[in-house]
Amino acid sequence: MGLSKGLREKRFKTRSVAGTLALGETLAEILRPPMLVILRGEVGAGKTTLVKGIARALGAAYEEDVTSPTFTLVHEYEGPKVHLFHLDLYRLETEEQIAVLGLEEMLAEPNALVLVEWGERFESVVALADGEIAMEHGEGDERGLMVRWKV
Ligand SMILES: Nc1ncnc2c1ncn2[C@@H]1O[C@H](COP(=O)(O)OP(=O)(O)O)[C@@H](O)[C@H]1O
Ligand SMILES: [Mg+2]
Repeated sequence: MGLSKGLREKRFKTRSVAGTLALGETLAEILRPPMLVILRGEVGAGKTTLVKGIARALGAAYEEDVTSPTFTLVHEYEGPKVHLFHLDLYRLETEEQIAVLGLEEMLAEPNALVLVEWGERFESVVALADGEIAMEHGEGDERGLMVRWKV
């Protein structure tokens, strides 16, 4: 992340998709716009599922309307208090491709919450990040989450 001082850290465990969606409630309280958060974890870790839960908690979208932006790169949802941007950079390879996304313009909005899957692969995204959520597979449907954010 851009700055390493003043970090908070919390760990969570979920045992089902419903549990991960419900965690969105907790995270929606922790994550304060304007903020860019990197979502880390392998394919199938549950990053997109977590975004569904966060969007639902913020009243920005129904979970079934939040789909993976793997091919579209950016999806936007407008909630009463938060403008949610959901990005998936899996298919991108160069910093030039990142530059045209306009991450800084998104973050210039006071109510922007920018959630970026695979953001850790790009230095410029790491430099803009205010937090990260790392998701790991446990056994079966178990997932471990480590949330770090600047205060
Ligand atoms: N506890 C859990 N949390 C989230 N997803 C889970 C969980 N258990 C099983 N899954 C499954 O794992 C997959 C997660 O997919 P997705 O959220 O798209 O992951 P990612 O965006 O990290 O690739 C889905 O098929 C979902 O049904
Ligand atoms: Mg995903």
